[in-house]
Amino acid sequence: MEQVQLQLQFKVVALLFFSILTFKSSAQYTPPDGDYLLNCGSSASNTTPSSEDNRDFLPDQSALSTRKHNSVVGDANSPTLYAAARVFTDSSSYEFDINGTKTHMVRLHFLPLTTALSTAVFNVSANDEFNLLSNFSATNTTTPVKKEYLITVDAEKLRICFTPIYGLAFVSAIEVFSIPDDIIQSSEPTVVGQTDLNFSVSSQALETLYRINVGGSKVTLSSDSMWRTWTPDDGYLASGDTSHQNTFTNRINYNSPGGEKIAPDSVYDTCRSMSSENSNITWAFEASGHATHLVRLHFCDITSLTLADLSFNVYINDEIAHQDLEPWKFVERIATPFYIDFTADSRRLSSRGKWLIRVRIGRPTTTSRNMKGILNGLEIFKLVPASVQHKCYKKPSRLMVSCIVGGSALLSAASLLLFLLYRRRNRLKSKESATPAANSDVSQLTVRSVATNMNLELHITLSQIKSATKNFDESLVIGAGGFGKVYKGVLKDSGPQTRVAIKRASQRSKQGFPEFETEIHVLSGIRHRHLVSLIGYCQEHSEMILVYEFMSNGTLRDHLYNSDLPSLSWKQRLEMCIGSARGLQYLHSGLAHPIIHRDVKSSNILLDDNFTAKVSDFGLSRVVGPSLTETHVSTGVKGTFGYFDPEYVRTRQLTTKSDVYSFGVILLEVLCARPVIRTGLPSEEINLADWAMSWQKQGLLGRTIDPRLVGEINPNSLRMFGQIAEKCLEEYGADRPTMADVVWNLEYALKLQETEMAREPFEDSTNCATELPLPPAIGRWNSISSVVMSHQDDSSIARDTKSESTASQVFSQIISSEGR
Ligand SMILES: *[C@@H]1O[C@H](CO)[C@@H](O)[C@H](O)[C@H]1NC(C)=O
Ligand SMILES: *[C@@H]1O[C@H](CO)[C@@H](O)[C@H](O)[C@H]1NC(C)=O
Ligand SMILES: *[C@@H]1O[C@H](CO)[C@@H](O)[C@H](O)[C@H]1NC(C)=O
Ligand SMILES: *[C@@H]1O[C@H](CO)[C@@H](O)[C@H](O)[C@H]1NC(C)=O
Ligand SMILES: *[C@@H]1O[C@H](CO)[C@@H](O)[C@H](O)[C@H]1NC(C)=O
Ligand SMILES: *[C@@H]1O[C@H](CO)[C@@H](O)[C@H](O)[C@H]1NC(C)=O
Repeated sequence: MEQVQLQLQFKVVALLFFSILTFKSSAQYTPPDGDYLLNCGSSASNTTPSSEDNRDFLPDQSALSTRKHNSVVGDANSPTLYAAARVFTDSSSYEFDINGTKTHMVRLHFLPLTTALSTAVFNVSANDEFNLLSNFSATNTTTPVKKEYLITVDAEKLRICFTPIYGLAFVSAIEVFSIPDDIIQSSEPTVVGQTDLNFSVSSQALETLYRINVGGSKVTLSSDSMWRTWTPDDGYLASGDTSHQNTFTNRINYNSPGGEKIAPDSVYDTCRSMSSENSNITWAFEASGHATHLVRLHFCDITSLTLADLSFNVYINDEIAHQDLEPWKFVERIATPFYIDFTADSRRLSSRGKWLIRVRIGRPTTTSRNMKGILNGLEIFKLVPASVQHKCYKKPSRLMVSCIVGGSALLSAASLLLFLLYRRRNRLKSKESATPAANSDVSQLTVRSVATNMNLELHITLSQIKSATKNFDESLVIGAGGFGKVYKGVLKDSGPQTRVAIKRASQRSKQGFPEFETEIHVLSGIRHRHLVSLIGYCQEHSEMILVYEFMSNGTLRDHLYNSDLPSLSWKQRLEMCIGSARGLQYLHSGLAHPIIHRDVKSSNILLDDNFTAKVSDFGLSRVVGPSLTETHVSTGVKGTFGYFDPEYVRTRQLTTKSDVYSFGVILLEVLCARPVIRTGLPSEEINLADWAMSWQKQGLLGRTIDPRLVGEINPNSLRMFGQIAEKCLEEYGADRPTMADVVWNLEYALKLQETEMAREPFEDSTNCATELPLPPAIGRWNSISSVVMSHQDDSSIARDTKSESTASQVFSQIISSEGR
C-alpha cells in the first residue's frame, strides 16, 4: 500500500533495455513542435548562432503582435546575439503559436546596451495571467541576465507582454520551447510546513531560481540537453561542512529513455555524502519572502554497493520533509536516478533577516543501523500564481499619439498641445480668478502677444519658394524624414540673396492649419546667434513650408567622426561647445518661459559659413509651464539613445537639467570623436558617457581623446573640460550645473588652452604627448555603428544627400514602426 502511494507521488519509471545504450554526453533534445529562438531587435536576415551553444536565433519581428510602440537599440545588422535589443515604449507583446496543453520553457535574456535600458523599470507577464517580472530592471551591462520560466499553456497562443513602468521596457533574446512531460509531472509534490497549499502545474508558472550540481562542477548549457546551466553547490554549503564529494565513472542507469532530460549525467555522477551518520549536510539559498517554492531534490546512489546502504532524513527549513528516505523504495538498481519534489515557503532564518530556503540531509529517525545520506542535485523554482494582470493592449492615450506624431513630423503636435493646454489653462485661470496671481498675468501677456502678433513679415509666397528651389528640384534635396523633404535654396526677392533650407511637409504628415500656425508663432519668437533661425513660412495651396537659415557646414557630428571632413582643432571645438552652450543657455534662461530642447545631440548642432555653432531642431522642445512653481514637465520619454538623462527616464519629469546631461554627452563626443553608442566594442566601451567617465574618475580622461588631438590639448584645459563633462553627467539633475555655469567654465577651458599655448608655443606638443597617453587601439575609425531614436528628425537642415546616405548606411537606426 505504501508502495503504491509512493509511486503516485514520486517519479518511478520502468526499467528499460534502453539504458544499455545510454551515452555519457546525451543527445540534445529536439522539441517535437519546434521552438522559438528570437534575437530581439535583430533584422539580420540570417540566423544568429548563440556563442554559448549551437542554436540559431532568428529575427523577432514576425513574433511581435503589434508593430506599434517598439523600436530597436543597438546594431540590428550585427550577426551576434546581444548586439541589439527590442525596446518598448508602451505595453507590447510577442505571440507564439502553441500546440495543445504543454509545459513550455520560456527564457528571457536582458543585456542593457544603454543607460536608458539599464535604468528602465518594467513588468513582464504571460497570457495576461502570470506576472513573470514585476518592477524589473536589468542593470548588469556586461553579462546578460537570463530569466527562466516553466509555463503550462492551456491556449492556442503564448503571449509575453512587456509593460514599461519607468522609462522603457526591453528584451535582448527570447527562447520558447515545449519540454517533455517527464520534467514536470502532474502528481502533487510533498508539502513541507504548510497545510493549505495547493499546487497544480497547470494553474501556476514556475520561475527557476537555482539549479545546482551538488558535489560537482558547473554544467554549461551546451552539455545539458535542455540548454540549462547547473552551478556547483560550494557557495551554498553551511560553514564547517564536513561532507564528502563523490564521483562516479561508470554508466548511469536511466530508468526510461529520456531520463537524462530530467538532469544530465554530469549531475547524477557526482554527489555529496554525509561524512558520518551523525553529521548533517546543510545548504541555504536566498529566496523571495512570502512566496511558495518548488524544491526538487535529485538522488542517484553512486556511493554504495547495494541499494540498501542508504537511509536518511531530508529537512527543509528545519522541518522533516522526508523521513527515512531509502533509495530501494524508488529504484531497483544502484546508480539509477530519481527525484522528489517538495513545496515549501522561505523563512527568515538568518541573523541578517534574509529569506532563506534551507535544505538539510541527516541521520534517519527510525533505522537502527548507522546509515548515511547523499544528494546529487537540487533545483528551486518559485511559484508564480495565476492572477489577473493588466491587459497587454493598452490603447495609447491621445497625448501619446500626438507626441509620437509630433516627434517625427515637422509640425510638432506635441508643442501644439502644450501650447494649447498652456493657453487654455491661462484662460481658465483668468476666468476663475478675479484677481489673477502675478505669474499668470505675465503668461497671459506672453500668450496674447504671441497670438496677436501675426508675423506677417515672415510670410513667403509659394512662387518665391518654387523659384528658390527650382520648383522643388530633386537635386536640391539635402535631407528627408517623416515630415517630408528639406531643400537647399536661394531666396531672391528679399533684398540680398539669402541661402535657405526649406522644409516642405509631405501630404502624409500634414496636421492642419492650427498646428502650422502655432509652430510658426513658437519658432518665430526665438532669435539668437546660437539658435538656427526661422526665416519664414509658406502656407498656400495646401502646402506647409518652413524656411530656415542655411547652415553650410553641416552638423557638428559630421566634423567629428563618420566623415572625411578635416579634423577640427581643439580651439575650434571649444568654441563650438561654447556657442551651442550659449544657445541652450538662452533657451533655458533668456525667455519668459524656459524652453527645454529635449533632443540635444551633435547632429542637432549646425555650423554656418564661419563655423559658428547653432542649435537646431526644436521638434521635441517643450515650454515649461507658466506657473512659477512648475519647474518640470511630465512627458513620455522622447529623445535620442545615448543622450538620455537617466533621471528623466526614471521619473519622466523633464527639466532643463536633462538638456545639460545631453550636452555633457556632446562634450565627450567632441573630445573623443566617437559615436555615443557603439556596439561591437567590449561592453564597458559601448556607451560613450559610461566609458569616458570611468576613465575620468581615474584621472585618465586623456586615454579617451581623439587621436588627432593628442599633443594639442593643454593638460589644464583638458582637466577643466573633463570636470565640466563630469558635472553635466551627474546622476541627479540637481547636482548638474546650469548652462550658464557650463558656458563660463568652457570659456575658462578655452582661456587655459590659449594662455598655455602662448607661453610655450613650441614645447607644448611634446609635453602633452607624454602627459596624455595614446588611446588604446580599438579601430575607432572603421565599422562605426550607432543608435538613433526612432522619431528623431535626423535630416538636419543642412546636410547634403551624400552624407545622408552614408549616414544611413553607417548608422544602424532605431527602426520605428510608427509614423514612417
Ligand atoms: C502543430 O501541430 C500541427 C499538426 O499536428 C503541425 O502541423 C504544426 O507544425 C504544429 N505547430 C507547431 C508550432 O509546432
Ligand atoms: C506591475 O506588476 C505589479 C505587481 O504585479 C503590479 O502591481 C503593477 O500594477 C504592474 N504595473 C503595470 C504598469 O502593469
Ligand atoms: C512596484 O512598484 C510600485 C511603485 O513603486 C509598488 O507600488 C508596487 O508594490 C511594486 N510591486 C512589486 C511587486 O514590487
Ligand atoms: C555582472 O555579472 C557578472 C556575472 O554574473 C559579474 O561578474 C559582474 O560583477 C556583474 N557586474 C555588475 C556591475 O554587477
Ligand atoms: C485546490 O485546487 C482544487 C482544484 O483547483 C480546488 O478544488 C481546491 O478547492 C483547492 N484547495 C485549496 C485549499 O485551495
Ligand atoms: C542535524 O540536524 C538535525 C535537524 O535540524 C538536528 O536535530 C541535529 O542536531 C543535527 N546534527 C548535527 C550533528 O548537527
